[in-house]
Amino acid sequence: MFSRYRLNSTVFFARKANKGKCFVKAAKECGFGVDTASLNEMKECIELGLSPEKITVTAAVKNRELLGYAITNRIPVIVDNWDECDLLHQLLVDMNRTLQVGFRVSGFEYGGEKLYSRFGFDSEEICETITSTMGDSGKYHKFRYHGLHFHLNGYSIPQRAGALSQTLDVADALANNGFRTRYIDIGGGIVMNYLASSEEWENFHKVLRDSLLTEVDEITFQKDPLGMVKVDNKLLGEPKVYPYYNEVFQDRFVEAILTTAKEGAPLYRHLIDRDIELRIEPGRSLLDQSGITIARVAFRKKDAEGRTLVGLEMNRTQMFSSSADYLLDPLFIPQHPKPGSPTEVYFVGAYCLEQELILKRKISLPQYPEIGDLICFVNTAGYMMHFYESEAHRFDLARNLVVEKTSGWQAFPDEEII
Ligand SMILES: Cc1ncc(COP(=O)(O)O)c(C=O)c1O
Repeated sequence: MFSRYRLNSTVFFARKANKGKCFVKAAKECGFGVDTASLNEMKECIELGLSPEKITVTAAVKNRELLGYAITNRIPVIVDNWDECDLLHQLLVDMNRTLQVGFRVSGFEYGGEKLYSRFGFDSEEICETITSTMGDSGKYHKFRYHGLHFHLNGYSIPQRAGALSQTLDVADALANNGFRTRYIDIGGGIVMNYLASSEEWENFHKVLRDSLLTEVDEITFQKDPLGMVKVDNKLLGEPKVYPYYNEVFQDRFVEAILTTAKEGAPLYRHLIDRDIELRIEPGRSLLDQSGITIARVAFRKKDAEGRTLVGLEMNRTQMFSSSADYLLDPLFIPQHPKPGSPTEVYFVGAYCLEQELILKRKISLPQYPEIGDLICFVNTAGYMMHFYESEAHRFDLARNLVVEKTSGWQAFPDEEII
């Protein structure tokens, strides 16, 4: 898509979406960069042979050790606040080095209001921030200004187009003050699509609402409203779940941003005219169709209200993101297939909490599961495996296997990747 628009661009895989080293290796093979959120993520990228200019650091907290490592390895950093700038600059002076930096920008105007973000420098002040502190005699004379960065919460195309447009204005203002912007990084949040049809998605919402407002059977555990609030038998808000169905997603999502008009020309044209590279940092959407999570059935039982609970050898943090539930049905892999006796179950996990449900939704299986049967959650590489994974109760973390087809199929532990 970028080449169709003749746009100079780089994709940085947002590593936080999955800790597997295999994805860093794959990013490298594709010529992508990697967006890192911690010292360990950076270190692994260097160890796996990524060149420093293919790494960007957007870590929310950058301490002395992390910044020192970036300086030693000449890894460009995106700065977020004054304290970070002070620390980075002090280290650069101490180490007698310079470093490429980008500035995170926020506070974009949208629909007559400022978009809130806890991150970044305000878009109305960033030009003054850079011009007054950088350059040969500036407070941050060791910084080498290279570009601007933003990452917006949510999945709005118009908000991203507005932010890009306003960032281009900042780049123009900086150019008038002698600072060349080499890249604009529009972050991640590039939406992906999990479902085959809009009907499934709409039907789910309808059946969920019906189950919450009427006497019909629950479809979520104890009629969990998935983040909606029930007041006077009315449901307020929407389920707090990822938008699992989207018509415009991945490359077409980015295309819709870039083709939005600014002053009579599409945004991509403004980037080309100013010789500014476009950078994106997709996490989830880059991992589409690239991971599954498998757990063994440990037990079956009835709860006090008659539901069938199926205990899995896993815990909730291994299938958990900011979405109130994962809305894809898992695959059932029985040891002894006996079709014809469907059964409705809830999956529960190993943590000692009443609310330790792997999925809040009731799942229909083609038969009553046996101990040792496998449940396979699909398309989980993006945030569903590791983002919140914890070792509470001293459980071992799950094993991460890489499955590769070379001459035949082979599986090996991710940590063996070098
Ligand atoms: C700075 C930054 N870049 C990229 C991403 C990746 O976002 P996504 O996985 O939604 O594409 C995130 C996610 O939080 C982020 O904070």
